[in-house]
Amino acid sequence: MEGKNSQGKLLIGHDDCNTSQNESLEEIVAERLNRRDLMKLSAGFIGTAFFGSFMAGCNQDDSTTTTSAAAATALLSFTPVSKNLNDALTVPTGYTAKVLYRVGDPIKLGTADYVNDGTDADFDSRSGDCHDGMKYFGLKADNSGYDTTNSTNGLMCINHEYINQNYLHTVAEVAAINNAARVPSQVDKEIAAHGVAVIKVSNTGAGFALDKTSGYNRRITAATPMHLQGVAAGSAYMITPYSTTGTDTRGTVNNCANGYTPWGTYLTCEENWNGYFKCDTRTGKEAVAFSRYGLKTTSRYGWESVYTQWLATITGADATADYRNVPNTYGYVVEIDPFHPTSTPVKHTAMGRFAHEGCWPAKATVGKPVVFYMGDDSKGEYIYKFVSTQNWDAADATGGLTAGAKYLDSGTLYVAKFNANGSGNWLKLDISETAIADYTIYDFADAADVAIHSRIAADAMGATRMDRPEWGGVHPTTGEVYMTLTNNSDRGKSGKYGLDPANPRYYTDTYDTTTTNKGNVNGHIIRWKETGGEPSATTFTWDIYLFGAQSVVDAGGDDAYYQANINVSGLTADNDFSSPDGLWFSEVSKGLMWIQTDDGAYTDTTNCMLLAALPGSVSDGATTNIISLAVPTHGTTDETVTTYVGAKPTTTKLKRFLVGPVECEITGITETPDGKAIFVNVQHPGEDGTTTALTSHWPDFGTARPRSATIVITKNDGGVVGI
Ligand code: FEO
Ligand code: CA
Ligand code: CA
Repeated sequence: MEGKNSQGKLLIGHDDCNTSQNESLEEIVAERLNRRDLMKLSAGFIGTAFFGSFMAGCNQDDSTTTTSAAAATALLSFTPVSKNLNDALTVPTGYTAKVLYRVGDPIKLGTADYVNDGTDADFDSRSGDCHDGMKYFGLKADNSGYDTTNSTNGLMCINHEYINQNYLHTVAEVAAINNAARVPSQVDKEIAAHGVAVIKVSNTGAGFALDKTSGYNRRITAATPMHLQGVAAGSAYMITPYSTTGTDTRGTVNNCANGYTPWGTYLTCEENWNGYFKCDTRTGKEAVAFSRYGLKTTSRYGWESVYTQWLATITGADATADYRNVPNTYGYVVEIDPFHPTSTPVKHTAMGRFAHEGCWPAKATVGKPVVFYMGDDSKGEYIYKFVSTQNWDAADATGGLTAGAKYLDSGTLYVAKFNANGSGNWLKLDISETAIADYTIYDFADAADVAIHSRIAADAMGATRMDRPEWGGVHPTTGEVYMTLTNNSDRGKSGKYGLDPANPRYYTDTYDTTTTNKGNVNGHIIRWKETGGEPSATTFTWDIYLFGAQSVVDAGGDDAYYQANINVSGLTADNDFSSPDGLWFSEVSKGLMWIQTDDGAYTDTTNCMLLAALPGSVSDGATTNIISLAVPTHGTTDETVTTYVGAKPTTTKLKRFLVGPVECEITGITETPDGKAIFVNVQHPGEDGTTTALTSHWPDFGTARPRSATIVITKNDGGVVGI
């Protein structure tokens, strides 16, 4: 995310715009499913007897199980990194981290080196700001196209989520910023520092470096032309002066996490896009929609004072005369073909419109639909999945945007409901559903209306409100799906929604001995197993793989209560963490999962981090009662929620691999096809500093302003990272 922090500082985005009544599964918590408990006991016993719990419940054939079990014993051989507050990047002994690509670094020949004092321009040909999700695509040695196996020559697609305004401009310019009348050249710089970069990187023996000569190098920004495709494209909701046919728009912003497709394209996801528009007050359905999507009468950066594209107000005769509809053209999964530098990115409306964190594919199977999992990262929002209408054809494996249109422009969008009995349902978001067609709060007109207002359709269907869904990932061998729920200060809060089995904690944490945080302070990671192992299934079973927590209770706390009800996963000094955000499975070290944090609650003790994990499988743990004290939504009385907790990880299955510099977030991760290099992003180091009082100087040190950057991590012995 961005602009984090639970200590009273400005929190950008993640508003609770969900006033639906879909919470409160507490009344059905008592419905325990004994049959499932019996099945779980059986699976857990078999798993423990043979392989610890690593492969329990996994439906693989014997050869795969043996391979994975053997690999499990070899993995996580590094010594855990200690928590720390250093303005440095710490990796385990035996590993090297090298800075590859910093804010402002030129990506083209002829662009001047970055001075980093606020005077630099030309962000169209430099690294943007605030690196986030990313993906390495192997490139043929002759640079002629996609090579899924090339580990020394590749194209990196990297999101530039937002900007640290303080560090983009000079001291005097920052002091003079007035959102009512922005300086055009400064707005141009900010617009160009957003979006996505495609850069060629190669390793000729001395480690990876950016190749500025490559014709693939490209910046996509908040001004780049985009096609709108799918069910809502060409509808009346999309008409603007820029595209009177409603088929195009300009720009992508707040590109948070990412995804990729089986056909060689990159997916970048628009998260807190709502804050970029200055809107007016609407009536009727539009009032409901604007409220639900957090559209406001003030904008974050005041870009509308320079460009009317960001001014979503009704001033003209119709939608071709003003930008009243422009917010409807944001909030999508955007597809980019890195191998065709002049191609136009595509916003896929059939995948829904919300604060898209990322978009993660299930393994594609020939003859079956392609499936993507997605989270809506705001407080109390939902988890979604998209199932294509077309079945996967391996002939499309290098199909680019043509394949994208085939698989992503027609399909079914579902939203998740997590039941108290450990089962789950994927609820179809379709105008044919009675609950949507007859919804009294918002009168859906057609399929385009449902796609553009997927949050409202999900309300109508009774989806489960989650603790801010962030990254997801599909386990390469079990096919089970993991998703981080980073934290939620609204959970259990007075006037908000209560606890439920999938979001079962409310507690108080002390920060820096002075302030307190309440709600689900440290977050958790939920996972589910699709029925029959079919990604397109409409039912699933779930449990909670891992709960974030500090390993030791705050001074003065009740340790016995804390360890049983807050540190539910039994974290230790070697692996305790808070606010899981990035989550990603290695395709090389099958079963190795990386967890990244974006925290504001444990940062009195440690900077944000990257952990390596070997998760087991759904139902490898135990049914657990969690007691929350004095919960406001429970009449301020104590509340017990019964949930399903995965096997406690132990330090052999969960270890801290990296700690980042001061005030950063660790987000974005990808690997070379041989797994011998991983790329990790360090976002917004020193984000709480000012131009005159810097709190971090990473990565250039001395007196330099801090810069977000991509780093490359390799093992000194040349081996696969993490094992
Ligand atoms: Fe941009 Fe949800 O993190
Ligand atoms: Ca994130
Ligand atoms: Ca604390």
